[in-house]
Amino acid sequence: MTNNESGTHGAVLQDTAPAKDGPIVELRGAGKSYGNIRALHGVSLQVHPGKVTCVLGDNGAGKSTLIKIISGLHQHTEGDFLVDGTPVRFSTPREALDKGIATVYQDLATVPLMPVWRNFFLGSEKTKGPWPVRRLDIDTMKKTADQELRNMGIVLDDLEQPIGTLSGGQRQCVAIARAVYFGARVLILDEPTAALGVKQSGVVLKYIAAARDRGLGVIFITHNPHHAYMVGDHFSVLRLGTLELSADRSEVSLEELTNHMAGGAELAALKHELAQVRGVDTEELPEEEDLTAPVATPSEGTT
Ligand SMILES: Nc1ncnc2c1ncn2[C@@H]1O[C@H](COP(=O)(O)OP(=O)(O)OP(=O)(O)O)[C@@H](O)[C@H]1O
Ligand SMILES: [Mg+2]
Repeated sequence: MTNNESGTHGAVLQDTAPAKDGPIVELRGAGKSYGNIRALHGVSLQVHPGKVTCVLGDNGAGKSTLIKIISGLHQHTEGDFLVDGTPVRFSTPREALDKGIATVYQDLATVPLMPVWRNFFLGSEKTKGPWPVRRLDIDTMKKTADQELRNMGIVLDDLEQPIGTLSGGQRQCVAIARAVYFGARVLILDEPTAALGVKQSGVVLKYIAAARDRGLGVIFITHNPHHAYMVGDHFSVLRLGTLELSADRSEVSLEELTNHMAGGAELAALKHELAQVRGVDTEELPEEEDLTAPVATPSEGTT
């Protein structure tokens, strides 16, 4: 099945010829069925270098299924999946990583009690010395981690502190810097701001922008249209496994995006239902425009 000629695991950027002008990653009418459950159907999406593609959708919309296909955890059962214009079918996340596709999961795979620098190199430790007396190159690892974090504008007081003592937002940032250092060309972030407060979300959004500015193609999965709109270049909204909206930034306003996410018609129906259940006068409930209007957008103008 796999036509992986060379077993070049380890060096991530090995055979990743720079994408000409086209997208690094592309889905064409892709879909995925689990037995007879169709989780995803007919989805087309492109990820370009230096651009942020946002994937939005409600619970069960198919967001995780989509990224599982791209990150090599699952295989698509319909349509095409191309990397650098060539159709691919990954059997393991390692194969995706070898093509420069890195995924930062929400439950970050870190060892809480180990220092930040150690986590930065987890699984890819630098060593020195000849084979029988090979040992960890601690100095280089510390220096590199510090430098790389600074390059991304992340300043931590002490890289010796256990990563578990960092805030959720800071840990996301370390994970982003790590992916950039290890040669990712495409960075997939699964709801990085879901569990974060306003301020920490802002920090993570800043590093998403930093990764984009360093030329990575970013896939940003989120429930939050406000977060998406601050950094997004393209917006793909999934509903019940299909693409409901696929629009460039110039083609959609924040209000429209919010409306798509909230489902204007559904909100109206809900309002009606609530009124019946509680005997509330529908007139007392906010208008749909109010429900979908942008609420206190944190630091407007970040983009
Ligand atoms: N392994 C699986 N086996 C069967 N059905 C699955 C499997 N994984 C996902 N599904 C179904 O596919 C649909 C899409 O799920 P998915 O996890 O991709 O949604 P999501 O958009 O990530 O939702 P959430 O926001 O809740 O994470 C759901 O109906 C889900 O029940
Ligand atoms: Mg999910």
